[in-house]
Amino acid sequence: MSSFCQPSLYTFTFMWNAIAVSKISRTFARMFERLQTKWKVNGTQLFLVLCVFALGGSATGYLGKIIMNWLSIDRGWLWTLVYIIIITLIWPMAVLLVSIPFGQFSFFTRYLKRMGARMRIVKENTEYRIKYPESSIQHLASGIRHIAIFASGTGSNAQKIIDHFRDHPSISVSLIVCNKPGAGVLAIADAEQIPVLIIEKDIFFRGNAYVDELRRGGIEFIVLAGFLWKIPQKLIDAYRNKIINIHPALLPNYGGKGMYGSRVHEAVINAGEKESGITIHYVDEHYDNGDIIFQAKVNITDNETPESLAEKIHSLEHKNYPKVIEQLILVPNGS
Ligand code: GRF
Repeated sequence: MSSFCQPSLYTFTFMWNAIAVSKISRTFARMFERLQTKWKVNGTQLFLVLCVFALGGSATGYLGKIIMNWLSIDRGWLWTLVYIIIITLIWPMAVLLVSIPFGQFSFFTRYLKRMGARMRIVKENTEYRIKYPESSIQHLASGIRHIAIFASGTGSNAQKIIDHFRDHPSISVSLIVCNKPGAGVLAIADAEQIPVLIIEKDIFFRGNAYVDELRRGGIEFIVLAGFLWKIPQKLIDAYRNKIINIHPALLPNYGGKGMYGSRVHEAVINAGEKESGITIHYVDEHYDNGDIIFQAKVNITDNETPESLAEKIHSLEHKNYPKVIEQLILVPNGS
């Protein structure tokens, strides 16, 4: 290589490394930011929490090895199985112990409880999940209209609705209601710092259907976005014509019990339909039955699959659902 090329090669390598380092550090910064929002901690606490994870993890591995040596099981599937069981049992205790000198005991008790609830090992106390922030209580007096989104899936519609109303002068998404610990929509609520109400079947269907909790938060309007439980009569009576749903097909066809997700799209394609679409409708005591508020259509191509149709339908939902909700709340009679 000529000496003429040498400096430019060095410059190129230097610049390449600099770009890579800045990209990696930006990725880490974003990751730390997201963790801070998710766990609701500041920078110092995040550092301490990560230290506890690291030390707790190492302690678990170390103790696990000691116990395995003591049990003296031959390496093989049984060894692996016993090892997995042992470290699964030791890990929560190790992080809890390590968290004490780091002053993070209460963070880790909450963290482990949440994990237990997601894995359905412990029951979460739903009564205390719903904590309306001061600001939303002040809004009650200032004429803000509060929406609750009921969702139990990924929550892509919930995200679009939250985005749409983020800086809205008179409408606020104030509560996410979910029946499924671990659902994607809960991570969205966490990141957006929106209160969550995890509901239980018994209270929903045989108790007060959470009407008191919703009223206490000033919830005026309920938006279902991928919520699969039927809405109980008590809630319908309390919020008559104030509960709406979105269905991924053109009702009255392809609706009713069991018609959700890809089942709807499969049925539409199998029936040889040339078009499908979305339906936004009021919720009554039957599945997908209330008065229709809005419909929009998409064409079905010859080689359409349930997945490609789902994608089209989703973007139609994202585009229209937030606007229709806004319209309904601001101009209830369409006048
Ligand atoms: C949407 O397709 C909606 O029509 C149906 O449930 C789905 C929810 O999707 N009711 P996502 O969780 O909002 O992505």
